Amino acid sequence: MGMLPDYQQAKKTTPLLVVNSLHKRFPAPGSGGDLTVLAEVELAVHRGEFLSIIGRSGCGKTTLLRCIAGFEKPSRGSLRIEGREITGPGIDRMMVFQDTEQLFPWLTVLGNVEFALQAARVPRRERRARAVHFLEMVGLERFLDYYPHQLSGGMKQRVAIARALSVRPRMLLMDEPFAALDAMTRSLLQQELLQLWQQTKATIIFVTHNIQEAIIQSDRILVLRPLLPAGSTGSRDPAFIRAAGGGAGPVLNPGLGSMAALIDNPLPRPRQPDMPGFGVIWRQLHRLIGLEVGTRAGLVAQPVAEPAAQPVAEAAPVST
Ligand SMILES: Nc1ncnc2c1ncn2[C@@H]1O[C@H](COP(=O)(O)OP(=O)(O)OP(=O)(O)O)[C@@H](O)[C@H]1O
Ligand SMILES: [Mg+2]
Repeated sequence: MGMLPDYQQAKKTTPLLVVNSLHKRFPAPGSGGDLTVLAEVELAVHRGEFLSIIGRSGCGKTTLLRCIAGFEKPSRGSLRIEGREITGPGIDRMMVFQDTEQLFPWLTVLGNVEFALQAARVPRRERRARAVHFLEMVGLERFLDYYPHQLSGGMKQRVAIARALSVRPRMLLMDEPFAALDAMTRSLLQQELLQLWQQTKATIIFVTHNIQEAIIQSDRILVLRPLLPAGSTGSRDPAFIRAAGGGAGPVLNPGLGSMAALIDNPLPRPRQPDMPGFGVIWRQLHRLIGLEVGTRAGLVAQPVAEPAAQPVAEAAPVST
């Protein structure tokens, strides 16, 4: 065996991010009560790790990311970066959003990145070179003087990624950054992001509802589930536990928390949907996400269709 990859090495050291018993409640408009969106989230993220968060719409993926970013305060529990409590937003945690309108429309491509560097207190004389360097990394060196409205959706997301990485954050927080893009651009940007991740050794937390994207990209996958209505015991249902535990070794929380599973993704990189083992993880995740609808409606757990196209692996013979 050669040297361990960076993330495997890092796992032996103190985690970069530690989330302890995180609960998040919001006032539920019109009801006079509260809606608990996240409960009992326990997570440790290591330097250099690529973690994906998946789960059905409304299960709290964005809320978790916003808590890590410091835009939301936990109702209970704590979030720590390098041992320090997260009390608000900071340039050590840069966020990239789904919305392709996240750039400043009055600034050029170069201006958008330089602005972030200024906010990060990078000296003026270094800003331009550093901005150009990161824009080169995303292939936009010929578009420095373009304004956002003169770019395609994919180009705008590249600028947003370059801008986020340029300040060398401790963490890159990405909320479905490729969801608004066509399939070809999406797959291209996935590959580019993986290259950037390897070049910069960034730590990435990536929210997606696309199972295939999560498997191709990440070292670990956190599956969130919607919380059950008060009084329900759906997640303790033997059918739930059986269905969720079908694959190899998910860390299951069959109680009432938000985490359905936190699974390791040991597939060698680069990954393709038709490689051995891909289908096993895909089906396991599909089951973990799909069965939420059944339990919520009080039915026996039933998988539901993944919105994205079925990967090739489903048709191919599968082995581990
Ligand atoms: N500021 C808020 N006030 C009240 N409720 C909120 C607030 N923000 C989020 N919620 C609620 O929290 C729940 C989870 O929302 P969140 O955006 O985290 O889901 P998500 O998993 O990111 O969904 P999607 O896949 O659709 O993006 C929803 O029921 C939403 O209505
Ligand atoms: Mg969301």
